[in-house]
Amino acid sequence: MISSKRIMQSDYMHWAKFKRPVRYALTGSEVPHFRMDSLPISIADLDLDGASHPRYLPLRAAIGARYGVPVDQVVSADGTSMANFLAMAALIEPGDEVLVEQPTYEPLLGAASFLGAEIKRFDRKPRDAFRLDVSAIEQVLSPKTRLIVITNLHNPSGALAEESELRALGDLAATVGARVLIDEVYLDAAVPSRPSAVHLGPQFVITNSLTKVYGLSGLRCGWILAEPALAESMWRVNDLFGVNQAHPAERLACIALEHLTEVLGETPAMLERNRQIFNSFAGSRADLQCMRAEHGITAFPHWAGGNTQRLDDYLREHYDASVVPGRWFEMPDHFRVGFGMPTDSFEAGLTRLESALDDLR
Ligand SMILES: Cc1ncc(COP(=O)(O)O)c(C=O)c1O
Repeated sequence: MISSKRIMQSDYMHWAKFKRPVRYALTGSEVPHFRMDSLPISIADLDLDGASHPRYLPLRAAIGARYGVPVDQVVSADGTSMANFLAMAALIEPGDEVLVEQPTYEPLLGAASFLGAEIKRFDRKPRDAFRLDVSAIEQVLSPKTRLIVITNLHNPSGALAEESELRALGDLAATVGARVLIDEVYLDAAVPSRPSAVHLGPQFVITNSLTKVYGLSGLRCGWILAEPALAESMWRVNDLFGVNQAHPAERLACIALEHLTEVLGETPAMLERNRQIFNSFAGSRADLQCMRAEHGITAFPHWAGGNTQRLDDYLREHYDASVVPGRWFEMPDHFRVGFGMPTDSFEAGLTRLESALDDLR
């Protein structure tokens, strides 16, 4: 159980945005940015007439088509961040019991707390390769549970929950009438690709965006997939916030969705190279313990040296480099490494990490 005090801000997000920049940042969880002006776009494509378009249908149709889901199950949102918030706002009443994985992406916890949830946690254990352990969830589930929240791929570890585990989770949630919110923002970086859990049953609510895996975080194109009545209630919650999306961004998102193969480009190959380099690096060090990175953009090794804030401080001071200290994921002896950069930059960052680990040994 976390503190019952309502969380009013994300300290992690603030840190992520405003930390002092370094040259060799292994902190990121996004692939390199994609230049939209490398696509054949004319200014007329952007409908720059100043009008806004409530629930802009072409964008929802394009998103729905990717999943084979009808448009009345697609809610647009500003990134996965707002998608998560809207989904939770429609699903959580103050006092509702919400189960959240541990470790997790901190704003998920913050949003549930902000909405007045009673939060209970279940572990994803490092010694178990951060696997989604449905029996651990069963132990904290109660008739009061309204929502279960996970990330897939898991942030920070990159662990993949397979369909059989997700089905078991859906069955468990159904026994108490709870929903399952799955943040799939990293799922499109699974190897080989895996389908969304949206087709596993009406208890599943899915969020995703064109940010992390596609390098288009500036577009803020995110979405929620939910059964129609629930999707409608999310649209209605959205009227309290942004009301409509920025239309030129919606147009750009439609164009990006038409050209997703080009947007992805060499990114999957680059990620695979970087994962293999990271696996050799982590496997060669006695002071690091880490599951093999097989999917995604991040890994979350354990460091025998203890609190990794010290490691990050040292990297910054001596090597113009950085990692994400595990305290942001409630596991101070771990740290998160991001693979989403050109391989030469990644190798240069790892060389600095190696030197810092040696110095601190
Ligand atoms: C699990 C998870 N969900 C959502 C986000 C935010 O994504 P977006 O930029 O699409 O809002 C992040 C960013 O790090 C994340 O790790």
